[in-house]
Amino acid sequence: MPTALLLENVHPVAEQVLATAGWQVRTVPRALDEVELAAALDGVELLGIRSKTQVPATVIEKAPQLVALGAFCIGTNQIDLRAAAANGTAVFNAPFSNTRSVVEMAIAEIIALTRRLTQKDRALHDGIWDKSANGAHEVRGRTLGIVGYGNIGSQLSVVAEALGMRVLFYDTADKLALGNARRCATLDELLAEADVVTLHVDGRPGNAGMFGDAQLRRMRPGSILINLSRGFVVDHEALREHVLSGHLSGVAVDVFPTEPKAQGEPFDSILRGLPNVILTPHIGGSTEEAQEHIGMFVASKLRDYCATGTTTLSVNLPTLDLPHRPENHRLAHLHHNIPGVLARVNGVLADHGVNVEGQLLATRGDLGYVLTDVDLAYAPDVVAELAALEETVRLRVLS
Ligand code: NAI
Repeated sequence: MPTALLLENVHPVAEQVLATAGWQVRTVPRALDEVELAAALDGVELLGIRSKTQVPATVIEKAPQLVALGAFCIGTNQIDLRAAAANGTAVFNAPFSNTRSVVEMAIAEIIALTRRLTQKDRALHDGIWDKSANGAHEVRGRTLGIVGYGNIGSQLSVVAEALGMRVLFYDTADKLALGNARRCATLDELLAEADVVTLHVDGRPGNAGMFGDAQLRRMRPGSILINLSRGFVVDHEALREHVLSGHLSGVAVDVFPTEPKAQGEPFDSILRGLPNVILTPHIGGSTEEAQEHIGMFVASKLRDYCATGTTTLSVNLPTLDLPHRPENHRLAHLHHNIPGVLARVNGVLADHGVNVEGQLLATRGDLGYVLTDVDLAYAPDVVAELAALEETVRLRVLS
């Protein structure tokens, strides 16, 4: 039985998915350091990690048998993706399994800030009975401005409309407006109209500091800002000024320019202690449901890649999805992307009289990937010759 190793308490559903597909699954409930990981990978074809295990080139190079690596999280910075590709190791992650969790947190914060709930809560814990309607509003009928209309922004749009909010959005890319949402041509247009502005842009370098004093000034007096995207997007000095001046009536921040690395480490921010400001420790996507979705999603990608060679949504290999035909064998050939490799692969097949039943090629950077379906009967030399081509990075025979 091939062996999979799952680290860092990946959700148990991942183990079920892989075990059902015939994998022997070993689990370790914590992250491993480089030395431990290199030793633990002996004989392992599938590795699953979360964000705390570093997988540098030095580890990957010692694991030539490692077919695929699953990051059971969103980011893949902890993995040397180029080294993995050079080793013929496919890497998968879960780019949108926690989308709904972030959306629900945004909704909770929109309502909490619009009703000043955390302020009332804090006062009552301090023994102060402050029963008043001043500055508290329904969200129904108010205008939500979504900046970044991707996976999260667009789903938030739908849920916010269900609450009766009017939705505007601004995105630098062309996006389909869902429901009754209205696209704004510029960020300034959105800022001039929105009662609540919520940021869901991605982490491209150009977004560093994109929301500073100029943007905050253009927001409506008494409006609310929520950042659940990336810490470096908002200028916190300017944000603090606009909260203290009363220009903003509420703020929620889940992501910070620098965040503590480990559980329980001290946290500091110039936003601490400000009125009607909700601070949360980067938990927008952190729910048990999201963990389960991530476990199911990534384990399924690993299972499918191993069984059929499908690389859909792999973060480092060319994307290929050839419909599976049980009556064939499939040759999954990863190779250096240089001219003539496909001809050489097909030359080997032709020399041995092997009929090609289906074939698909894709390239990405310096890697090429070709899936070839052939009849079940062929000489073993075919596989040996394909594996021996000097351009071959990895050859797998899938049945
Ligand atoms: P996505 O990639 O699907 O959407 C991002 C959208 O922002 C794209 O449509 C893009 O065109 C747009 N965009 C980029 N720069 C822009 C700009 N300057 N102005 C306007 N639009 C811009 O990403 P997804 O999955 O919706 O995630 C959004 C953000 O949320 C990411 O930064 C992600 O890291 C963060 N995130 C935070 C979590 C948390 O725990 N707080 C959990 C999950 C995601």
